[in-house]
Amino acid sequence: MKNNELPDKYITALRIPWLTSLYDPIVIWTTRESRVKGALIEQAGLDAKMKVLDLASGTGTLSLMIKQRFPCVDVEGIDGDPKILQIAQAKSDRVGLDVKFEQGLATQLPYADFSFDRVFSTLFFHHLDLDDKHLVFTEIYRVLKPGGRFFCLEFSKVQNTSLEILYNNFSKLSPSIGKLIVGDKEPYEYLIKSIENFINQDELIDLMKKHNFKKCFYRNLSGGIVSIHSGWKI
Ligand SMILES: C[S@@+](CC[C@H](N)C(=O)[O-])C[C@H]1O[C@@H](n2cnc3c(N)ncnc32)[C@H](O)[C@@H]1O
Repeated sequence: MKNNELPDKYITALRIPWLTSLYDPIVIWTTRESRVKGALIEQAGLDAKMKVLDLASGTGTLSLMIKQRFPCVDVEGIDGDPKILQIAQAKSDRVGLDVKFEQGLATQLPYADFSFDRVFSTLFFHHLDLDDKHLVFTEIYRVLKPGGRFFCLEFSKVQNTSLEILYNNFSKLSPSIGKLIVGDKEPYEYLIKSIENFINQDELIDLMKKHNFKKCFYRNLSGGIVSIHSGWKI
């Protein structure tokens, strides 16, 4: 698949393709990335011989963190955007970690049924319209092994009033600060808008349950600025 074969509604990491090369610095600045992704990995009950999929893996940060922490786990990353996969591959080559990155759509995963023990999705679901959210959940469920688990780390709704006021004020300021740091406020404006429009923690649980996931629950990090949802395929 090439860039021009991506669906019209495909949204690259920061919406504007030429900003993709700025993705890592922007995410490091706007999220406590290593802390929240580290918490996700510790929660996932990984052990040797497991096979895991990093869905919409972007620049591959989570895949590489998993491989570093659990060298015997077989890690694959998939993303639709060939440019971001080049960044992921270069990062992987630099640190000498064996992660397989592949191009493909999360709505049509190129894997057999029952392929993975764990599927992770980080900062991805807010890119999808409702139809694609349903398609992606169907695909995740299909490729998970029975007994496998899905983990989703997403921007969420702050569930603490004082923190919400602080967070909203910070959100209003961050495009201007972002312009000073990376020279463009648009990626920050896009990020803030998509977070505002994203479903809340309970709505995401409902969606998972509709797709047959069991024992679904979430936990908030940083008061709900991000949350980790998980569910089992039984
Ligand atoms: C905000 S980035 C998140 C990347 C990474 N998971 C992270 O935590 O940094 C969203 C990623 O989703 C990818 N993406 C968007 N729609 C997709 C789809 N339908 N199938 C596969 N990847 C998709 C984009 O190319 C982008 O790399």
